Amino acid sequence: MKTLYREVNQAWDSAAIEEAGRILKKGGIVAFPTETVYGLGGDALNPDSAKKIYAAKGRPSDNPLIVHICRMEDLSEIAEEIPAGALALAEAFWPGPLTMIFHKKKRVPLETTGGLSTVAVRFPSHPVAQALIGEAGGFVAAPSANLSGKPSPTNGKHCLHDLNGRVDMVLDGGEVGIGLESTIVDMTGPVPEILRPGFVTKEDLLTVLKEVRIDGTIISDKDGTAPKAPGMKYRHYAPAGTMILVEGEQEAVVKKIREMIAAAGKEGKKTGVLCTDETKECYQADLVLSAGSRKNEEEIARRLFSLLRTFDEENTEFICAETFSEERLGLAIMNRLKKAAGGNTVRAT
Ligand code: TXA
Ligand code: MG
Repeated sequence: MKTLYREVNQAWDSAAIEEAGRILKKGGIVAFPTETVYGLGGDALNPDSAKKIYAAKGRPSDNPLIVHICRMEDLSEIAEEIPAGALALAEAFWPGPLTMIFHKKKRVPLETTGGLSTVAVRFPSHPVAQALIGEAGGFVAAPSANLSGKPSPTNGKHCLHDLNGRVDMVLDGGEVGIGLESTIVDMTGPVPEILRPGFVTKEDLLTVLKEVRIDGTIISDKDGTAPKAPGMKYRHYAPAGTMILVEGEQEAVVKKIREMIAAAGKEGKKTGVLCTDETKECYQADLVLSAGSRKNEEEIARRLFSLLRTFDEENTEFICAETFSEERLGLAIMNRLKKAAGGNTVRAT
């Protein structure tokens, strides 16, 4: 398949967006920017589009897709039993990086929801995403536009790298603003539950809701319980090389990483360190990448996936990464880092 490539910097760059909308309406698939990460869109009401998305990503078809809307009134077209708490969350955080799960209406095909009777819905704030969803008829199913297992794309080049020849079009709207996928909250139970941490934190949700739970498997996966968002069980975001997270006090972490990198270097491995501005001068490795200052977690979130891809571009074989506190946005950053490392963590003492 030939993949068309179009640069769009604004929503009113309408020719390319209209062209992409026509592709979606005909059952094709298009990578497009959102404020979180790039999505790989297809018509959410067309079962064949969902199949094409799974095939292009190499994604297991039991892993449901998020349906993106661009008008609040469209929520009740696809979701049932919308609780008052969901309307309050929508009022506070839509359009934006929040996904909510509801019981689905019949018109949403099971192919889109990975066989589930529930549907995940998000109203993104990115103007190109909103315009494209409108052109496509209002309901666009979109997982992140990466090959399954790889870090989510934060610019159009990442999408082309993973999906050139596998999708109908890449709409390139430059770098995204947030860099981590949306927060997913299940609204179908008695207490709203976070299934995937994201830019909207538990503390943010609690400004609107009385009570919020966090799926316990996000904090610890030791007891072998499956996470409630099917996609969270798969290895994800992983660079090709071995990646180890090092936790502990800063000084001990620096010492431990220096030791491990030196040992790997002696074995002839190409080494990398994922660190912060506070420590980047302390390391000697083939590739030392700082995600930014510890004082600016939003910057760290925005750069994380792109840095993970850089290690692959440089064929890094052994990577040590510093860790972060799991408070607020740190919970989402650490959730992605732990998945990238496949659970490989050591404690520096
Ligand atoms: O920010 C985002 O959410 C991005 C952009 C493109 O909008 N999309 C995204 O989609 O991250 P994806 O497919 O990479 O991740 C969706 C996650 C998966 O873990 C999936 O299992 C979960 O949402 N999910 C979707 N529908 C669900 C449902 N009905 N019940 C439970 N989990 C669901
Ligand atoms: Mg994804």
